Amino acid sequence: MLELTAVTRVHGEGERRVVALREADLQVRLGELVAVMGPSGSGKSTLLNLAGGLDTPSSGEVQLGKDLISHLDAAGRAALRRRRVGYVFQDLNLIPALTAAENVSLPRELDGVGAREARAEARAALAEVGVLELADRFPEEMSGGQQQRVAIARALVGPRRLVLADEPTGALDSHTGEAVMRVLRQRVDAGAAGLLVTHDPRFAAWADRTIYLRDGVVIDGDRDDCPTDLLVGAGRGRATDDLDD
Ligand SMILES: Nc1ncnc2c1ncn2[C@@H]1O[C@H](COP(=O)(O)OP(=O)(O)O)[C@@H](O)[C@H]1O
Ligand SMILES: [Mg+2]
Repeated sequence: MLELTAVTRVHGEGERRVVALREADLQVRLGELVAVMGPSGSGKSTLLNLAGGLDTPSSGEVQLGKDLISHLDAAGRAALRRRRVGYVFQDLNLIPALTAAENVSLPRELDGVGAREARAEARAALAEVGVLELADRFPEEMSGGQQQRVAIARALVGPRRLVLADEPTGALDSHTGEAVMRVLRQRVDAGAAGLLVTHDPRFAAWADRTIYLRDGVVIDGDRDDCPTDLLVGAGRGRATDDLDD
């Protein structure tokens, strides 16, 4: 579904040159949720932005389904993103003047889906994350956790096949965080590919596997030569119901 091949992203020039991602290879299949861990500044957001076509690589290729998105122009990438990619941003980016239902239906309407159908899809997505009762509320009338769920509903609305989440559980208590992970997991199990940036091993444990980033280099946590200092405290394998809080 998603394939990055030798992807490098360089920012700036001369003394300000930063290699945010270095020769990264990554494949995520449908039905697979991959957690991305690594220290601040290691390139996690850069990786997600490239995977979702928000950014283009300096070299290397990004393929989404049959499309080489690294070779599309900005308009082509925007269209592909609207149709296929759900993105949960670190700062939620809900539009304050729109209700929850309007926030969630907006990307579908932008993509040409009729208003009535978009509204029905939005309600289904809000129900999927357990906040249908918030449909007519504005963001300022919701708690942080409720806003987070609406942002996730917006990322999942319609037939998106790639879900990218950059620390979606960052501001949440552990109970709400688990609920968010359950929704992400369900959507991936239903036939999407997922990439999840998290600092919390308990959330990473919901993923099928974890990759680690250090100074822009991807290290596969399931490989035997993965540096052990990266694995300390990191979740490997699926979460269990009796996980402590
Ligand atoms: N637009 C940009 N211009 C210059 N440097 C950037 C830009 N975006 C990211 N970087 C740099 O690239 C590196 C990786 O950043 P980022 O992907 O945001 O890391 P993370 O999400 O892991 O904290 C950092 O050194 C950051 O300062
Ligand atoms: Mg980041």
